[in-house]
Amino acid sequence: LKHQPSARFDLSSSGVQRIGLGELGVKIDELELSGSSAYGDEELLGLIAARAGVPSECVVLSMGTTLANHVAMAALFDAGDEVLIEQPTYDPLIYTARLLGAEIRRLPRREENGFGVDLDELRRAMTPRTRAIVLCNLHNPTSARIGEEELRAIGEIAAGVGARVLVDEVYRETVWGEEKRHAFSLGGNFVVTSSLTKAFGLGGLRCGWILAEPELAGRMRRMQELYHGDHVYMAERLSIIALRSLASLESRARRRLDANRDCAAEMLAAHSKVRAKVYEFGTTVALRLPRSSADEFCKLLSRYEVAAASGAYFEMPQYIRIGLGGEPELFREGLARILQALDEFGG
Ligand SMILES: Cc1ncc(COP(=O)(O)O)c(C=O)c1O
Repeated sequence: LKHQPSARFDLSSSGVQRIGLGELGVKIDELELSGSSAYGDEELLGLIAARAGVPSECVVLSMGTTLANHVAMAALFDAGDEVLIEQPTYDPLIYTARLLGAEIRRLPRREENGFGVDLDELRRAMTPRTRAIVLCNLHNPTSARIGEEELRAIGEIAAGVGARVLVDEVYRETVWGEEKRHAFSLGGNFVVTSSLTKAFGLGGLRCGWILAEPELAGRMRRMQELYHGDHVYMAERLSIIALRSLASLESRARRRLDANRDCAAEMLAAHSKVRAKVYEFGTTVALRLPRSSADEFCKLLSRYEVAAASGAYFEMPQYIRIGLGGEPELFREGLARILQALDEFGG
């Protein structure tokens, strides 16, 4: 996706439009090059822990959700262990598990079931060798949400064979006001990963974290030393500044996402060829095309000066994903062009 040519109407990103340094209101004397403690800045750890409502010892700082997922998986299973990953999913989760040598099995999240998790199907898919279940909540690309009761049940099913549940919650950050209702609050066999990237337009900070039981968190911290040794102190100082002003960053993001969500709901409902569910939260909408393939449709889109994410990146070749985080006028025009392209695409 990163190598896709940029377009005038770029709806391919899944994050809220990135903000600049000026918008953080940073003063140079608030920054410093070095000073971090062994496992990251204590103040930063404290801010993330307070926001999540957990003790600092349950927080592992990481370079974005990307490295958080990698480190979490590395601590949860060994090569040859069995891991159950949702399908469709954000494909780096599969590649990471594969890189770590896991024996990967899949857990379908079916369209007819609103991309939820079927608990009976999950029970059948579990074996005594399952070490971890891997899910995204909210789901990428659909933004479908797994509710708390369902998650709790998933945790119990996993616990039955001594497995953990890794939940990538980077998009749950847009479920405003629910900071403390992450999956880790449901039980100790949950591990949560997240970051400031998607909801707050702060991907450049690489401020990510893992929430896990203290012993497991300690293991992850030590493991992380193998990847990058110290943390980037300058980025940690900036992350502290961002976390202190998260309320205003949130209202900016929320206004933007709500405006584009309303616009998408209205425009998609008025078009007969497209099937799409616009969820209450999240930064993306998945659009089902009348025929395959999304790659072919994305090529057509480039003639309309539009970029969207092909569902091929998410094991959904008949879908495209549009991001709600862009500037509203560009979003509206970009979506209008997608709908025109759909008329040309036929099917
Ligand atoms: C489900 C999911 N997890 C993680 C990431 C990467 O997040 P970060 O920028 O925090 O590394 C993405 C980015 O697209 C994503 O979709």
